[in-house]
Amino acid sequence: MKKVIPMIVAALALPVLVVQAQDAKAIYDKECAKCHGADGKGETKMGKKMGAKDYTDPKVQEAIKDEAIFKAIKEGFKDKDGKVLMKPVEGIKDAEIKAVVAYMRKFKKQ
Ligand code: HEC
Repeated sequence: MKKVIPMIVAALALPVLVVQAQDAKAIYDKECAKCHGADGKGETKMGKKMGAKDYTDPKVQEAIKDEAIFKAIKEGFKDKDGKVLMKPVEGIKDAEIKAVVAYMRKFKKQ
């Protein structure tokens, strides 16, 4: 509980528009890592079962546009047969989506 109060104070003091990199990590870890893996490789039980790609692979990164990542987070993602692979993230703000897009880009191996 001790941590909660300073967090609330900080949240009220900060302009809401500013989305910090830590927030992107927190969102990713909560909403995405169970399939795509904390490292983006998709080597989780769910990720393997569902065929999540390896987002550390530069070729995978190059094949996808920022807009497509944005859309997958906002609207979810279906395979070509219309089967839902990813549900949209409920209540996420555009600024947060952008931060998560940037976060995913960092998985790429240099
Ligand atoms: C229930 C498992 C699951 C969750 C949770 C999930 N994904 Fe996915 N996602 C998939 C699968 C499976 C695919 C299809 C294979 C691939 O492209 O990796 C996919 C595809 C994608 C794609 C590619 C879309 C395209 O147009 O090719 C992106 C980007 C993506 N996910 C990002 C995310 C982000 C960011 C989150 C968290 C907000 C997330 N995913 C949560 C399973 C999941």
